Amino acid sequence: MEDKLSRLKDKMEEARKGGGEARIAKQHEKGKLTARERVELFLDKGSFEEIGMLVTHRTTDFGMDKQIIPGDGVVTGYGTVDGRLVYVFAQDFTVFGGSLSETHAEKICKIMDLAMKNGAPVIGLNDSGGARIQEGVRSLGGYADIFYRNVRASGVIPQISAIMGPCAGGAVYSPAITDFIIMVEQTSYMFVTGPNVVKTVTNEEVSAEDLGGASAHSVKSGVTHLTAANDLDCILQLKKLLSYLPQNCEEKPPSLPYEVGEEWRDKLTDLIPENPQHPYDMRDVVNGVVDADSFFEIHPDFADNIITGFARIAGKVIGIVGNQPMSLAGVLDVNSSRKGARFVRFCDCFNIPLLVLVDVPGFLPGTDQEWNGIITNGAKLLYAFSEATVPRITLITRKAYGGAYDVMNSKHIGADLNYAWPTAEIAVMGARGASEIIFRKEIKESDDPQAKLAEKEAEYAEKFAHPYRAAQRGFVDEVIPPRTTRRKLIAGFAMLENKVDTLPRKKHGNVPL
Ligand code: HXC
Repeated sequence: MEDKLSRLKDKMEEARKGGGEARIAKQHEKGKLTARERVELFLDKGSFEEIGMLVTHRTTDFGMDKQIIPGDGVVTGYGTVDGRLVYVFAQDFTVFGGSLSETHAEKICKIMDLAMKNGAPVIGLNDSGGARIQEGVRSLGGYADIFYRNVRASGVIPQISAIMGPCAGGAVYSPAITDFIIMVEQTSYMFVTGPNVVKTVTNEEVSAEDLGGASAHSVKSGVTHLTAANDLDCILQLKKLLSYLPQNCEEKPPSLPYEVGEEWRDKLTDLIPENPQHPYDMRDVVNGVVDADSFFEIHPDFADNIITGFARIAGKVIGIVGNQPMSLAGVLDVNSSRKGARFVRFCDCFNIPLLVLVDVPGFLPGTDQEWNGIITNGAKLLYAFSEATVPRITLITRKAYGGAYDVMNSKHIGADLNYAWPTAEIAVMGARGASEIIFRKEIKESDDPQAKLAEKEAEYAEKFAHPYRAAQRGFVDEVIPPRTTRRKLIAGFAMLENKVDTLPRKKHGNVPL
């Protein structure tokens, strides 16, 4: 018995050390923490319960039977973050490059199954060279077992992927299916095929960082929602993200206590510039209406003509989607539509009410947009809002033109409360463009076409460049002074707190992917 216990102790010690001191030092040299250090930082002190520490691979090919390392390159288990249950796996790059074997995959699947049964988030700390090359199809099968579970769990429990090292080949597809990705700058990358394959196939020379580093995926592709300066920052952001999320789709997100008081915000009064062509930062509107320091922006570096993020209002979590006049005048295009749609659908999955801030001159015209499918992609945002059953409030701060008016959570597609500031302009298009079209003949035949255009523009603006026609029809519920907005929103979200809305019975909709 003594003998067995001492053997177990040795094995556990070996597992804890992972690939040994030298390999740990190598990991540190790269500026990376080890899998265990990451788990310890992430979870509440002393809360980690490991599962499968003594699991080993079953491969005998290529001398692998001589290289048995307990744990097989992934640390799995459960614990708490701020007292709430989470499941976690952390790939251990010091063991076979964190590569995924059949048993490594089984360990991840085991905690995913537990997470589903017990309704708590799964967080993956990815750091892996991909499929364990020595195992062939068994490791590919292991990936597919994970993908299948990712899809089954989608919309049931939050799934978050931190990319804290390499993530190549099929390994990128599990994170891609999860709800959020966060990448560590300089030490992580994601790609389906690495620089060598790219060179062979396309003759393109590109570094791993340029091809699939945090910057490429946060700015260009939009694959990652967040980036972190280092491992510690990554863990802190993961914790922050979790603080806005419910445990599963049956729960509401966690609230903080709040006592409603005097909620006027005078700063909002002069926020909209006199000149309608001048930009302003929609983040100032966000920060003017939400609880202090509660805005957590998601996807800040991608498609910045739309902003998305979580915040709290009177202690309650909301999701925010807002056009950003600072970038491309807040126009909707392919990327901003995709970004907005995905965020809306996440919020709807997890009972997070939506606040939509509108200042949009329309959809971006041009061959680039048309050929890249602005029709299908714009429809994603329209679809996402239309199918969302969570409480939805819209505030039009300035422009709401054309189809974009409909798309941005209009009353017609199911918004619960629609407010507008007196500066709102709700029309098919801007006054100048509209006048040029409908008064073309009159302007052309006039002795002074410029003066005629100005006159017609003023006439059109007088008729439509305000929110009162929409308010008369009930498409806008109330035109409100900016300083009262926070108070209105607090009252509105409180009124909608027990909203029940259901979609028609169906297997699932067919979102224009
Ligand atoms: C087995 C692997 C491995 C893998 C790395 N290692 N990747 N072992 N299978 N996939 C081992 C290395 O042999 C090495 O072992 C140790 O991990 C550390 O690797 P290094 O190369 O020394 O590290 P580094 O220089 O940092 O480079 C990391 C790397 C590189 C860029 C990830 O190792 C690499 O390119 N690996 C292969 C990536 C790959 O092609 N994976 C398959 C993708 S296809 P020693 O003993 O020397 O320390 C795929 C299909 C999935 O994943 C399909 C699902 C649908």
